[in-house]
Amino acid sequence: MTFFAAENVTLNFGGLTALRDVTVELHEGEICGLIGPNGAGKTSLVNVISGVIRPNAGRIVFDDRRLDLLAPHEIALLGVARTFQNVEIFADQSVHTNVVTGLHRRLAHGFWSSALGLPVARRGERRAYDEADRLLEAFGLGAYRDMLARDLPFGILKRVDLARALAARPRFLLLDEPTSGMSEVEADMTIGACRALGRERGVTLLVIEHNMQVIMTLAERLVVLHHGEKIAEGSPAAVQHHPSVIEAYLGTSRVHA
Ligand SMILES: Nc1ncnc2c1ncn2[C@@H]1O[C@H](COP(=O)(O)OP(=O)(O)OP(=O)(O)O)[C@@H](O)[C@H]1O
Ligand SMILES: [Mg+2]
Repeated sequence: MTFFAAENVTLNFGGLTALRDVTVELHEGEICGLIGPNGAGKTSLVNVISGVIRPNAGRIVFDDRRLDLLAPHEIALLGVARTFQNVEIFADQSVHTNVVTGLHRRLAHGFWSSALGLPVARRGERRAYDEADRLLEAFGLGAYRDMLARDLPFGILKRVDLARALAARPRFLLLDEPTSGMSEVEADMTIGACRALGRERGVTLLVIEHNMQVIMTLAERLVVLHHGEKIAEGSPAAVQHHPSVIEAYLGTSRVHA
């Protein structure tokens, strides 16, 4: 059974083709990097997979289900989570509360037992709070636990967004530039935590990353997009020396291959 496949996906915005006949397959448990210059279509692919945008053509298959026919919340319920390039969190809530929101998919007791204050709901909530604290520790966010998101810098919020996404215990996690806005030390720590938690929980990761050093150490395989097309894929070492990849990056300043 295919764990995940985006098959022949095309996405148009008016006259602009953000994705052209893109096929990407992932096997369960792998860490795959998605790279390419600015405007290559990386975020568009994540948007299509997570159901934010419907593709014009192609199929998205996860666990034998067609994701391209489902709404974003239905896709999330299947165990697909994502983070956002520009982070999407509740600015007026604390760091801890933001991470707890990610746990809602897993609170098994449901709405009525919670509304009625049944013990099963209270136990579930207690566990959710503890789990959020564990994730905050894993991402070095303990000191920010009770601070409001709006008072924190972008690099910290990126980590909150990551902890929130992992709280949902996804089977497939899509990360859109998880280390942007971070210092090298922060980025190393964040990537280390992602890899450790991912491995421990058997999460399959698709990671968009502009920092080549980060993606080379994290990913087992790379897929390269350029002008909406897949131009290369393979091991980081092979992709780095691929002529089309070198040409695509020539003259761009964000990536140093
Ligand atoms: N909602 C939209 N409406 C119109 N055009 C869009 C939309 N989203 C993306 N695009 C265009 O589609 C192309 C691919 O954009 P996308 O954001 O997927 O690139 P990217 O690889 O994530 O780039 P970056 O590295 O800058 O984040 C770009 O030309 C972009 O301007
Ligand atoms: Mg992007």
